[in-house]
Amino acid sequence: MNIAMIAAVGKHLELGKNNDLIWHFKEDMRFFRETTRGATVVMGRKTFESLPAALPGRRNIVITKNASYQAKNAEVVGSMEQALEIIKNDKNVFFIGGASIYKAFMPYAQKIFLTEIDDECADADTFFPDFDKSLYKKEILNSIQVNNVTLNFTLYLKKDCD
Ligand SMILES: NC(=O)c1ccc[n+]([C@@H]2O[C@H](COP(=O)([O-])OP(=O)(O)OC[C@H]3O[C@@H](n4cnc5c(N)ncnc54)[C@H](OP(=O)(O)O)[C@@H]3O)[C@@H](O)[C@H]2O)c1
Repeated sequence: MNIAMIAAVGKHLELGKNNDLIWHFKEDMRFFRETTRGATVVMGRKTFESLPAALPGRRNIVITKNASYQAKNAEVVGSMEQALEIIKNDKNVFFIGGASIYKAFMPYAQKIFLTEIDDECADADTFFPDFDKSLYKKEILNSIQVNNVTLNFTLYLKKDCD
């Protein structure tokens, strides 16, 4: 099983604001769609609720402590352990946020796909965890400029997974 995380962050690891994304670059949305296509995506309840619907063409799993939670076109689990149990036979799994999920599952991720956006947001309220970059090999997959903002599509690969 390949376990990865995927997120888009600002200069200070800003992730979100008011339960929504800060930046909405269509190039980044496309990268997310293409990278996660056909895979399993695991997310926190708040991230699920920030989406218009479950993500098509992917197995969607939502984590919540609310035992009666219903999520259309998604499976619901009550804990990290339960999430890890039901994904164990899946080939490609992406943890897609939010902050609480990135933090909890960081030790399991062999790959972190980070779109590093060269911009900042002073009133962000959610941040990607400040992880130890020395444990990863960094590769810039692509670098583009959109409206004078640079987006670096970066892959952090855990060194012990080479
Ligand atoms: N920039 C990006 O790439 C990106 C990606 C994803 C999300 N975001 C942003 O991140 C923000 C949301 O992140 P967030 O950290 O506030 O929320 P979140 O991680 O999406 O969801 C948090 C909820 O998940 C459930 N949960 C988390 N850990 C759990 C566990 N161990 N066991 C059971 N349930 C658990 C709880 O739901 P219950 O309260 O129902 O129990 C918790 O309140 C939004 O602004 C969103 O737009 C940004």
